[in-house]
Amino acid sequence: MLKLPGLIDPHTHLREPGGTHKEDFDSGTAAALAGGFTIVCGMPNTTPPIVDAASLIIAQRALNAKARCDVGIYLGATPNNIATARTLAGQVSGLKMYLNGTFGTLKMDAMDAIIAHAAAWPADKPLLAHAEQHTCGLAILAAHLAGRSIHICHVSRKEEILLIARAKDKGMQVTCEACPHHMMLSTEDIPRIGTARADVRPVLASPGDVAALREHIHVIDCFASDHAPHLLGEKDGPNPPPGYPGLETALPLYLELVRDGVIDLDGLIARCHTNPRRMFGLPVQEDTWVEVNEDAEWTLRPADTHTRAKWSPWEGARFKGQVARVVLRGVVAFRDGVVLAPPGFGRNVSL
Ligand code: DOR
Ligand code: ZN
Ligand code: ZN
Repeated sequence: MLKLPGLIDPHTHLREPGGTHKEDFDSGTAAALAGGFTIVCGMPNTTPPIVDAASLIIAQRALNAKARCDVGIYLGATPNNIATARTLAGQVSGLKMYLNGTFGTLKMDAMDAIIAHAAAWPADKPLLAHAEQHTCGLAILAAHLAGRSIHICHVSRKEEILLIARAKDKGMQVTCEACPHHMMLSTEDIPRIGTARADVRPVLASPGDVAALREHIHVIDCFASDHAPHLLGEKDGPNPPPGYPGLETALPLYLELVRDGVIDLDGLIARCHTNPRRMFGLPVQEDTWVEVNEDAEWTLRPADTHTRAKWSPWEGARFKGQVARVVLRGVVAFRDGVVLAPPGFGRNVSL
């Protein structure tokens, strides 16, 4: 048995409010525990988006009632909530700026709004950006001009990881995350997965981009699943939304990176526990750990998963390494495929 600390996923979409047919705090945190995660942070691109006090309270109440593991909440940035965001900083784990189009309505195009948010958001609170290609450069510059840090979400391209590496070398305060799918899948996998199902933002990149991420793993501060559940009917329908569920496949894929020699076990623990805890100001969870049966081989069957998405780009794949037990604050929260922690057991770690 491999014993790991409670894993942290700093980038998930738990869909509450407004998208609870895809996921809610109950099903999303059940998926988290099944995947070995004891803290997940939820993104604000919900319906309504989490951008002010009223929408934040809706999410906080649902979290309190339904979460089975601990959860952090991010606030979303809009051109109009620069002052409001600042007043809510003490109640969230960070401010997320969407600088490219993706699922939901949160997107900021105006450069002055991006620069104003970077200047106004408290310097000791995480500022995160969905920032691809050119906007990655803009996000780093906006933070640098404000004399503060920035976290670049789901880096997927060679040009982005090289830019971030150079910015770090220059002493700029930049951190970044990478997702399992961008480190393991490329455009070559799209025919097998199917074009609509394979759609994700950032899109799957070239094999050269994947290789660049793996070669620059030392630049990647943490891993994140970007768990983005959508129903199969939606993915296979006329307007397929981008995104994959990821919480229940992330750890076996990270263990594959260890077997491939991309990282060692300490590097995995750093990127899935120590670093995200520090970067996002998350609390220590006492008496909390995950037991992984390292040698267990298993096949991913969507029907066995806890997410409401009930599909995966990895369905049918053989994985090595299975979560056997999760202990959260001294309580067995997951054992042998069964989530035992009840709704309401999870805490809001943003407060
Ligand atoms: O593929 C994605 N899905 N990328 C995002 O940025 C958003 C996410 C979602 O919320 O579905
Ligand atoms: Zn994103
Ligand atoms: Zn996301």
